[in-house]
Amino acid sequence: MSSSDLSLQHHWMPFTNNRDFKADPKMVYGAEGIWLTGADGRKILDGSSGLFTTPAGHGRKRIADAVHRQMIELDYISSFTRGHEPSFRLADRLAAMLPPGIDRIFFVNSGSESVDTAMKICLAYHAARGDGDRKMFVSRERAYHGMNFGGLSLAGMVRNRLGFGTGLPGIVHMRHTGLPEHRFVLGEPAQGAELADDLQRMVDTYGADSIAACVVEPIAGSTGVLVPPRGYLQRLRAICDRHGILLVFDEVICGFGRTGKAFGAQSFGVTPDIITMAKALTNGALPMGAVAVRQNIQDTIMAAAPENAIEFMHGYTASAHPAACAAALAALDIYEEENLFERAAQMSAYFLDTVAGLRDLPSVTDIRGYGMLAGIDLAAGTGPGAGGYMMQKRLFDAGLHVKITGDTIILAPPFTVNGGEIDQMRDILHDVLAAEQRAAA
Ligand SMILES: Cc1ncc(COP(=O)(O)O)c(C=O)c1O
Repeated sequence: MSSSDLSLQHHWMPFTNNRDFKADPKMVYGAEGIWLTGADGRKILDGSSGLFTTPAGHGRKRIADAVHRQMIELDYISSFTRGHEPSFRLADRLAAMLPPGIDRIFFVNSGSESVDTAMKICLAYHAARGDGDRKMFVSRERAYHGMNFGGLSLAGMVRNRLGFGTGLPGIVHMRHTGLPEHRFVLGEPAQGAELADDLQRMVDTYGADSIAACVVEPIAGSTGVLVPPRGYLQRLRAICDRHGILLVFDEVICGFGRTGKAFGAQSFGVTPDIITMAKALTNGALPMGAVAVRQNIQDTIMAAAPENAIEFMHGYTASAHPAACAAALAALDIYEEENLFERAAQMSAYFLDTVAGLRDLPSVTDIRGYGMLAGIDLAAGTGPGAGGYMMQKRLFDAGLHVKITGDTIILAPPFTVNGGEIDQMRDILHDVLAAEQRAAA
């Protein structure tokens, strides 16, 4: 396998140092189970489930067959004023998996679209209730909510925002929940629930009647896995309830078993008003996202619309694409039949304990985790993110694909991973980090 006939010049790659990639391409030619195939047939362990997308492992024939069948039967029909069975079937399936009451599903094509759509739903809901001055959103430092302008404005990862202007007005940020006391804590940290009172401070500052929603990831994933302090999400829920603020959980990473239950909302025992999802909805096989909302939110928006009018002026050409729906239905079948969320819950302790075994490496400054998600902070190298960037390349060359944000390695293996493969992942990490350490000494 070689790409010597490719120029590599014309594809402007996302979130990539394009110049470096072209000088030192990291190509992937195939994938099966938890293994990727690199150049010359080299096997690379997928330690990030793609990009948190592929909990059932790669190359699932059942999904491919379902998509193929769907493409032959009905390849495309717009979901604007036309219906097809797979989208309604999928909405029913999701409604049955979600926390009770959150059972109205709006389909989109990505996590970013799910967040921007959720923001519009919040605004539409308050307007429909005659409370249309609620236009502000409360988000959090170190949050990641996608790269469209709504999600970017909510974002609290500063380098993602830098250079893209001021974003939407009326978005304020609570403090993040990464406290020094949480260092090397696996699971929910005991300290920090009171950080949720930042939401109350926003209410005191701006007035509850100007705030539409509070948007958080149950576990802040892309910033490096910040697990919520015990009681934090409950406290956010209580403040939202007190002040008529909608609570939105962005579960683009947490959704579909990553926390050991279908959704983080269920793992942490807090029911929001809206849940966004994407990535693992189709096991990563096709792009798709969704926004799940409490029934009365949709009912309110419907009831306020004039007769014969479209109630919610929003949608995308590929919303509820038939092939994506078929992929999602097949993925949900696999998750259910193979009990993959239960497997994630069972594997979690071994996974987290094994990863925690890296704590004695001098370059490791912190390890956190929950479910099948863990973050390993590395001491900053020549500048923030420089070490992480090099590490991501070295790990790939050594046979491990991982997502790295700044100087944090994020591990999120497929739930089908076994103990031996988790050990392999740890060994590669250990060897590469230790070699790096020796070279720096
Ligand atoms: C919590 C969260 N929201 C939104 C997104 C954006 O998803 P996408 O890249 O599919 O637009 C991501 C992506 O990682 C995410 O982690």
